[in-house]
Amino acid sequence: MPAIVVVGAQWGDEGKGKTTDILGTSVDYVVKPNGGNNAGHTVVVGGEKYELKLLPAGILSPNVTPVIGNGVVVNLEALFEEIEALESRGADTSKLRISANAHLVAPYHQTLDKVTERFLGKRAIGTTGRGIGPAYMDKIGRLGIRVQDIFDESILRQKIEGSLRQKNELLVKVYNRRAVDVDEIVEYFEPFIERLRPYVAETEQLLNDALDRDEVIVMEGGQATMLDVDHGTYPFVTSSNPTAGGSCVGSGIGPTRINRVVGIVKAYTTRVGAGPFPTELFDDMGEYLQKAGGEFGVNTGRPRRCGWYDAVIARYAARVNGFTDYVLTKLDVLTGIESIPVCVAYEVDGVRQDEMPTSQTEFHHAKPIFEYFEGWAEDITGARTFDDLPVNAQKYVLALEERSGCRMSVLGVGPDREQSIVRHDLLD
Ligand code: GDP
Ligand code: IMO
Ligand code: MG
Repeated sequence: MPAIVVVGAQWGDEGKGKTTDILGTSVDYVVKPNGGNNAGHTVVVGGEKYELKLLPAGILSPNVTPVIGNGVVVNLEALFEEIEALESRGADTSKLRISANAHLVAPYHQTLDKVTERFLGKRAIGTTGRGIGPAYMDKIGRLGIRVQDIFDESILRQKIEGSLRQKNELLVKVYNRRAVDVDEIVEYFEPFIERLRPYVAETEQLLNDALDRDEVIVMEGGQATMLDVDHGTYPFVTSSNPTAGGSCVGSGIGPTRINRVVGIVKAYTTRVGAGPFPTELFDDMGEYLQKAGGEFGVNTGRPRRCGWYDAVIARYAARVNGFTDYVLTKLDVLTGIESIPVCVAYEVDGVRQDEMPTSQTEFHHAKPIFEYFEGWAEDITGARTFDDLPVNAQKYVLALEERSGCRMSVLGVGPDREQSIVRHDLLD
């Protein structure tokens, strides 16, 4: 039975949370393999809205075991806030399992995230300020603190000392901030130790055993392809690998066990934070999409930059992830637009380029070459089959499918669980 990877194809907020949720009752485990509380995944169930940051969307399905994989960086304060908020709304979070190998975000990571952004000035990334980059830097730099470390007092102290020796030089001498005291950080972690213990598990074994029993696992990626530290618009990216390969690394599930890689793509494009965005709109239409699509960040409340669908990016994402299916979300937001532009290629310094330019400079210079499609005026939020859609909406979907490198298996026509059109079952 399948392991399915859910990956954002653009710059995030495509509807990954909703996609995990609609797979629903057929799923046994939902794993978050990368990122941390920089994500914001929205799930709407029967008109009730849930916004998940650190927890995978599977937490809302009682039959699902939600797992925070080894590739995640965990902010314990944020974790328990989220658990409490969900419990107070009646959700049961007791099945949650957290990898002992996941890394922890410490308060000094958040401080460093913020001061680094200030230091970068005009070149700032526009991070979420959650300390994600500095926590991953410590992981790769072998100065990180892992979930398992907080259960051994002397190890915890040693690791904090090791990390702070370097951080304090940086904070005091480069950023002109106060030094952080080791005891302060040990005390910060202390109240979480016993609360965390019941959730910690050998998740790599747990997940592989589940696959051996033919159970279904969804790996719900955070962030997106164009924010991937290797494949995205570096340096305007996050510090993990949200692409499909990253989900193997971040969960301990081998590539041979993955059956489907599902890309989530919006019927237009949005981006939060800085960095290039060829189809970005700076006119009334951009504002219109922002309002009609409710394009305000779940995590930071920042307005999302909006633009048209970019098929070059979709083809690129299909390639680097090996997508088997696309879920096209927010088709309903385009209702009422007379003529809908779709970027099919770029013009870079006077030359047409059909695929992703090789260099960052070229991508910064890329201007969209559009094809235009006739819109539709009918309300499509009640459509449940492809045939329910107006002919022009059908043509728009088929045109995107032809240009995006992968079949479009599910179409989103509203935020609710029920508002989806399934053309090909993702679990087949
Ligand atoms: P994620 O980070 O990829 O999980 O996406 P977010 O939750 O940050 O942003 C997606 C937004 O679009 C959320 O507000 C969802 O409720 C909403 N959404 C998802 N699919 C659809 C859809 O098909 N139509 C509409 N109108 N909204 C959708
Ligand atoms: P979901 O999972 C949209 C963006 C930030 C910034 C860059 C780096 O909801 O799709 P970071 O704090 O990760 O160091 O910020 O990445 N970013 C996201 N944008 N959706 C997200 O998550 C994002 N997570 C990070 O805005 O540009
Ligand atoms: Mg989001």
